[in-house]
Amino acid sequence: MVTIRPLALTDAPCMAELGDNEKIRTNLRDGFPNPLNAELAEGMIRRWMEKVPATFFAIEWNGEYVGNISLSPGEDVYRKTAEIGYFIGEPYWNKGIATQAVNLIVEFGFKELGLARIHTGVFEYNHASMRVLEKCGFELDGVFKKAVMKNGKIWDEVRYSKINGFKVACHTDIIDNPNKQ
Ligand SMILES: CC(C)(COP(=O)(O)OP(=O)(O)OC[C@H]1O[C@@H](n2cnc3c(N)ncnc32)[C@H](O)[C@@H]1OP(=O)(O)O)[C@@H](O)C(=O)NCCC(=O)NCCS
Repeated sequence: MVTIRPLALTDAPCMAELGDNEKIRTNLRDGFPNPLNAELAEGMIRRWMEKVPATFFAIEWNGEYVGNISLSPGEDVYRKTAEIGYFIGEPYWNKGIATQAVNLIVEFGFKELGLARIHTGVFEYNHASMRVLEKCGFELDGVFKKAVMKNGKIWDEVRYSKINGFKVACHTDIIDNPNKQ
C-alpha cells in the first residue's frame, strides 16, 4: 500500500541513504546535493517543513519510507500551477509506487490546493518517469529542445501536464484583471 505524508526530520537518514544514488541524481536538477548525507537531507527537510500548506511529502510503501514527492506552486499569474517532483529509492523501483504516489499528490493538489494545472519537465533519457506520468493521465505538452545541461551534455526536456477536471475557483481573476470583459 502506498501513502504520502508530510516529511519529518526523522526521515533524513533514510532520504540520504536512498537519495545518494547516481541513478537518481542524473534525473534531477543539479540543486539535489552530490553527495547527499543525513545532515544535508535534514537541512532540506527543515526548509520544506516551513512551507504552509505542506507540499513536500514522504512516500511510504507498506509503512516504510521509500522516497519523496512534492508540488511547488508557481507565483504571480502562475499561482494556480504547480511543478511536481519525485524520486523513489532504487530497491523499490518498478513496483508501481511512483504511479500511486503521483496519483495521490495530484488529487491533493487539485482538491485541497485548488490547482488548475500540474506539470513537470523530464530529461529526454528518463523513460521510466515519462511512463509514470502517462500512466497517471498526464499529457505531452511538447519538447523543449536542448533546454537542459546535465552531466556535461545538452539534452531535450520533455514537458508533461495534467489539468484539473474539477472547477477551479477563479472569481478573483475578475478583480485582478481590469481588462477582462
Ligand atoms: C522514475 C521513478 C520515480 C519511477 O518510480 P517507480 O516506482 O519505479 O515507477 P512505477 O513502478 O510506478 O512505474 C515505472 C514504469 O516505467 C517503466 N520503466 C522502468 N524503466 C524503464 C525504462 N528504462 N524504459 C521505459 N520504461 C521503463 C516500468 O516498466 C513501469 O511501467 P509499466 O507499469 O507500464 O510496466 C524512479 O525510477 C526514480 O526515482 N528515478 C530517479 C528520479 C527521477 O527520475 N525522478 C523524476 C524526475 S522527472
